[in-house]
Amino acid sequence: MADDKTRIDEATGTETTGHSWDGIEELNTPLPRWWLYCFYACIVFAAGYAVWYPAWPGATSGAVGGTLRDNVAVAIQEHAEGQSEWVDKIAAASLEEIRQDDQLLAFATSAGEAAFGVNCSQCHGAGAQGFVGYPNLNDDAWLWGGSLDDIYHTINHGVRNEDSDDTRWSEMPAFGDILEAPEVTDVANHVMALGGLEHDADAAARGAEIYLDNCAACHGEDGGGDPEQGAPRLNDAIWLFGGNYELISSQIKQPAHGVMPAWGLRLDDTTVKALTLYVHGLGGGS
Ligand code: HEC
Ligand code: HEC
Repeated sequence: MADDKTRIDEATGTETTGHSWDGIEELNTPLPRWWLYCFYACIVFAAGYAVWYPAWPGATSGAVGGTLRDNVAVAIQEHAEGQSEWVDKIAAASLEEIRQDDQLLAFATSAGEAAFGVNCSQCHGAGAQGFVGYPNLNDDAWLWGGSLDDIYHTINHGVRNEDSDDTRWSEMPAFGDILEAPEVTDVANHVMALGGLEHDADAAARGAEIYLDNCAACHGEDGGGDPEQGAPRLNDAIWLFGGNYELISSQIKQPAHGVMPAWGLRLDDTTVKALTLYVHGLGGGS
């Protein structure tokens, strides 16, 4: 539109833009002062901001020096340095020394808990509560012993694996091939009697001798178990493979054998120590 169409609108005293649609004209109302000053202030602020902070990725580093990214890198570095002091202490101390030192123990336990979540929880459960065939690590029942050294050895070398020469090893024979079926029934009832489960008393009495001849060498005469052989206690209410007739007799006929990897071959020694202290803290017996 040509400039010469602009004029002063009588009603408002404001200049028009010269645009007119069917006689309706557009006023060229100036921006409010306050708005304009805010706008200029923003431009000044933005210019200052762009100089002060890193505004162009990779191009300007900002007068303030360093980026948030750098800050994170520095924080991670400091954290690692702070930790390495603890990691070195754990590496240098014996398990017993760590246990005696409250601060060291707290650090080892939380490191162990983190490593447990990553490496162990899929078999033992997030709270180490265990599943059928995978022992609960919170209770005081230990297949392979609950002292710091026992637990360290179990974690380090694992159970019944092919990888470590020092792996925990023992194998309950398949008594389905050794005993007659009625004998299995009798000895299963004897085991249920030892464990305080409902059972057939006559069968259990007949099973007592079979038990002494075939089972006591590993599980103990009274069913107390033997950590040297990883033979579970049978006279408590804790069952690794299940506490009913079907599961007990199936374990006697064709035993299941738990296998655990040798963690010493996969994790560094400090982590294995931290795991030992964490697991021991859950329910270790010295
Ligand atoms: C692949 C499954 C699996 C994973 C993963 C696993 N375990 Fe085990 N763990 C077992 C089994 C099975 C047994 C029981 C072996 C047996 O029957 O004697 C066991 C036994 C143990 C025992 C001995 C318990 C006792 O009563 O003596 C400890 C301690 C233990 N695990 C700790 C750990 C730790 C710590 C980790 C992680 C670094 C871990 N386990 C990861 C399967 C696993
Ligand atoms: C050579 C040692 C040995 C002998 C002998 C032996 N056991 Fe076992 N028994 C074990 C081991 C080891 C386990 C644990 C299996 C595993 O975790 O892999 C076990 C597990 C069991 C379980 C499962 C316990 C649970 O908590 O679920 C029962 C039940 C059992 N044995 C009964 C018997 C009976 C009955 C006999 C005799 C007829 C017998 N065992 C003889 C070593 C033995």
